[in-house]
Amino acid sequence: MPKRSIYDLNVKDKRLFVRVDFNVPLNAGQISDDTRIRSALPTLKYALEQGASLVIASHLGRPQGERRREFSLRPIAIRLNELLGQPVTFATDCVGPDALQAIEHSGQNGVTLLENLRFHKEEEANDPVFSASLASLADCYVNDAFGSAHRAHASTTGIVPHVTDAATGLLLARELKYLGALLDNPTRPFTAILGGSKVSGKLEIIKNLLPRVDTLLVGGAMSYTFFKARGLSTGRSLVEPDLVNATRQIEKEAKTHRVNLVLPCDHLVTTALQADASHENLDVEATGIGDRLGVDIGPKTQQAYANIIKESATVVWNGPMGIFEISPFSSGTLAVAMAVAASNGTTVVGGGDSVSAVGQMGIAHQITHISTGGGASLEFLGGRTLPGVEALPNS
Ligand code: 3PG
Repeated sequence: MPKRSIYDLNVKDKRLFVRVDFNVPLNAGQISDDTRIRSALPTLKYALEQGASLVIASHLGRPQGERRREFSLRPIAIRLNELLGQPVTFATDCVGPDALQAIEHSGQNGVTLLENLRFHKEEEANDPVFSASLASLADCYVNDAFGSAHRAHASTTGIVPHVTDAATGLLLARELKYLGALLDNPTRPFTAILGGSKVSGKLEIIKNLLPRVDTLLVGGAMSYTFFKARGLSTGRSLVEPDLVNATRQIEKEAKTHRVNLVLPCDHLVTTALQADASHENLDVEATGIGDRLGVDIGPKTQQAYANIIKESATVVWNGPMGIFEISPFSSGTLAVAMAVAASNGTTVVGGGDSVSAVGQMGIAHQITHISTGGGASLEFLGGRTLPGVEALPNS
């Protein structure tokens, strides 16, 4: 059921509470990736053009209900000011007199960014009194925080019954449109590429996608649990012994659904997790891995995956093909990034390393949709209801 959108609200001369996900990486107080801030701009700009005053709220990190300087949103207020091209008043608290004073100071059609919601433990506890305090700061509410939509917190769910009107922001609506289409009506052939270290982290998404995809390409360390189940040598590669049976079940289900489940045919093996450790490509059927460990997909696999991606009309990719952060072990992930970007089909990329790979290659603009949600996109594609979305009124 489609949700009410910001386009359905009359926000002229209203105070609009916008929950965003500005949980961005910070390095010594400097923002190292502002994608999440940029992604919220269309909603913020639209609301300002309509004459709203903005009260913007987010969490940052996990300060566990304590006021800690390293988790302050102050540096984000500065970046938001630059990106919006208009003053942003920073409120040193997200509720109470400090918040109100800052909102009044920013004036009509102004912008206030509230301090970290998680400086109050009541945020994560979804406390009703705290939810009501947040709601009292504005006339209506927009949730544009897709990255936090899997959290049932005061600012994502508890606040909704306390406001007169609520809706999705443009980013949240876009995420639901592209991720929702993958589950509901993907154009075929539909290929999912799943990587990352553990099968356990991807089990739900694999199970939910198997009845929907034509091809499932597997990469990353999670391949080794599949290899173990097939009786192949895995050396010191990461294997989840208690998931071996689950991978057998996945292979069975793939057959039932006539899904082409593809595992790497060759891999890069190394003596140690260091850039200067000796490494070589081996076929996965070969027995020569010894006590080495697999850290990337090999060139034959890269080519085979690229060919399948090229023939696909819809592609979703989540998770690296190898240990992407160590340069000699990153070529599989970069090759998949290139192949996804070169596709003429609809392409959706999610997950930290996959998104970084696309960014690093300068090809993000060639991807149809890059999801801003890590855990949220996994849960959504895993078939779970997101409480932050569920809480919003249907259109
Ligand atoms: C994220 O980065 O995935 C979101 O901002 C949610 O953060 P959390 O896992 O700390 O709730």
